[in-house]
Amino acid sequence: MMREGAHKPLAGKKVLITAGGTIERLDPVRYLTNDSSGKMGFALAASARDSGAEVTLVMGRTSELPPDGVALVRVESAQEMLEAVLERYAQTDLVIKSAAVADYRPVFRADKKIKKSGERLVLELEKTTDILQTLGELKTKQYLIGFAAETGDLDRYAMDKLQRKHCDLIVGNDVSQAGAGFNSDTNIIRIYDKAGIVESLPLMSKLETARRILAVAAERMAHLES
Ligand code: CTP
Ligand code: CA
Repeated sequence: MMREGAHKPLAGKKVLITAGGTIERLDPVRYLTNDSSGKMGFALAASARDSGAEVTLVMGRTSELPPDGVALVRVESAQEMLEAVLERYAQTDLVIKSAAVADYRPVFRADKKIKKSGERLVLELEKTTDILQTLGELKTKQYLIGFAAETGDLDRYAMDKLQRKHCDLIVGNDVSQAGAGFNSDTNIIRIYDKAGIVESLPLMSKLETARRILAVAAERMAHLES
């Protein structure tokens, strides 16, 4: 029989996870978004909860139901997600940024539905704030895990993001591989720290993937404390 506590490596920890895609509105009925299903973030939230953590899930647009037993904060835009995360950052021990955040948003948001007019319509977009990078710059005690969804040169792009955004770990996945895409129930990931690859995992369920990510995080966080 397993000892009580042996399964709870994140007991007493406050974990904040972002999941899903953001929505950037053009007008009251139209928006820009992406293909994120939220599944990876939800798997991480469920797994962190099962590891004993007190979990807050900041979720954007998703096609799935979030897990039970976690505190839910629903947001739409990258800006709302930024604010929701910053509000809770000081009290958080571990942040996992699995959300697919819009890189650009419309410069103007119309109050009324945009009417059809000429043959072409040019949308002007501006950069959103990089939430993960902001967290990296404000980091004190928090353990920070980012994601890197790539379609080529995974190692280079993932390591570049880890450094640029001051993450402790980055989870890279090549979303062009079968079984690693946005809407899939499975994933194929690599976990990196600043020295390079920590783990290179084969195709597995998002829940199993989440467990492995959290096992690495919990072990490293415990190490930092001791
Ligand atoms: N991210 C974020 N805020 C943004 C954009 C991205 O917090 N405005 C986070 C994502 O949640 C993810 C990590 O940054 O954890 C990497 O996201 P990704 O889209 O792969 O990288 P970008 O830095 O946006 O670069 P690019 O899209 O050009 O690859
Ligand atoms: Ca991006």
